Amino acid sequence: MTKQPLTAIILAAGKGTRMKSATPKVLHNVAGLSMLGHVIHLCNIVGVKKIIVIVGHEAEQVSEEALKHAPQAIIIQQQEQLGTGHAVNCASEHLKDLEGDAVILYADTPLIQPQTIEQMQAIRLQGADTVFLGFESPNPAHYGRLIVDNNDGELIDIVEAKEATEEQLKITLCNSGVVLSKAGKLPFLLSQIDNKNAKGEYYLTDIVKIGRQHQQKTYIGLCDPNEVLGVNSRAELSHIDMIYQTQKRLEMMHNGVTLELPQTIYFSHDTRIGNDTVIEPNVYFGTGVEIDNNVHIKASSYLEACYISEQAVIGPFARIRPQTSLGKGVKVGNFVEIKKTVVENNAKISHLSYIGDSVVGANANIGAGTITCNYDGVDKHRTVIGSDAFIGSNAALVAPVIIGQGAMVGAGSVITKDVPPKSLAVTRGEQVNIENYHKKHKKH
Ligand code: UD1
Ligand code: CA
Repeated sequence: MTKQPLTAIILAAGKGTRMKSATPKVLHNVAGLSMLGHVIHLCNIVGVKKIIVIVGHEAEQVSEEALKHAPQAIIIQQQEQLGTGHAVNCASEHLKDLEGDAVILYADTPLIQPQTIEQMQAIRLQGADTVFLGFESPNPAHYGRLIVDNNDGELIDIVEAKEATEEQLKITLCNSGVVLSKAGKLPFLLSQIDNKNAKGEYYLTDIVKIGRQHQQKTYIGLCDPNEVLGVNSRAELSHIDMIYQTQKRLEMMHNGVTLELPQTIYFSHDTRIGNDTVIEPNVYFGTGVEIDNNVHIKASSYLEACYISEQAVIGPFARIRPQTSLGKGVKVGNFVEIKKTVVENNAKISHLSYIGDSVVGANANIGAGTITCNYDGVDKHRTVIGSDAFIGSNAALVAPVIIGQGAMVGAGSVITKDVPPKSLAVTRGEQVNIENYHKKHKKH
């Protein structure tokens, strides 16, 4: 048998009452990506051909998010949440003629690793009709318990905690809920499930017993308990985020990035950083950040959707906002905010500036406190600063405006007209010195 084409059924119909949120549970983010997005991402990594998402509560928003990440996904409405077996059964129409396998995943369980699904596929290849994913827990509480044949490891039954005997409750091998099975055979198994149990629900887990009655073999795969943690509350969401961050930091360091006090650095799911880059403490990466090799991000900087080239030095306390690209060797110092701007190689913006909707040419030097006045209250306008230009401290560049190549702007100037290349623009009133003013001003 060769590896089978894979279909995923993602259960996302639940209410998530304990989140106490107007946002559907599965749309809450872990590292800048919804939990549902993480599960779809996993499907893409393991080469899922077809994604079926079962939606119920807040169906519209959940569907929209699913289609954002998997435009070909099939969305199925589960009107009433009658149990995990019922939820999967809603997809039966789409399964019955399918070649290959189906994997059942949960949109509120975002940490499953691709290798775990691959391991389940390998167990299928060894002759299992169905594979349930289990894990060992010292404190299994409400999890379903896996009843395994001691001789050959076959899974005989799954008993929900509510139905378990005292003896069964001592079992520490738990059901994660994740299942891999022959897609075409699932509709029959699902059709045989009833709701005569403690919760009055259609239990997906009943397919173990039903399969056995029809000469089907079920085995288990095993994973790290952290991988199959689900989210029911904000505390659990933050716990999962913490686990994700820990993995991400280790992955970064493994790839050659230096992290100082890594536990204070927050990554997004898609943060990309080149080797020999150094990240100091308390740096936050929003989504869409890509950083080249040998960059130095100093403490307490905040970056979103930007590209930073090699040898750039950023921060401390810098804010790099979306659609910003910083060239090689660029220096952005403390309390500088940059938005939607291209900064070319070796330009310096060292202190206390706001640069938005701009181009800053190579080797330009932007003095402390320079502001691009990009907004006139109605529209945004562009500022173009030529290469080798020198902007004196505390200049206001009122956009749209072009500062020519090699031009200089005197400190404190308000620039409203283009400055030709290599010229000096100054708009300050001339300094007046009044003599003996000190004596006159003093009362005695
Ligand atoms: C289920 C398993 C249990 C396992 C546990 C792991 C069953 C009967 N039990 O229990 O053995 O240890 O997961 O977390 O399967 N959902 C729907 N529609 C429904 C019902 C559920 O979409 O009609 C979704 C929920 O939103 C949730 C997931 O399926 O994301 C699991 O459902 P839940 O009711 O929480 O199952 P458990 O009782 O935890
Ligand atoms: Ca649950």
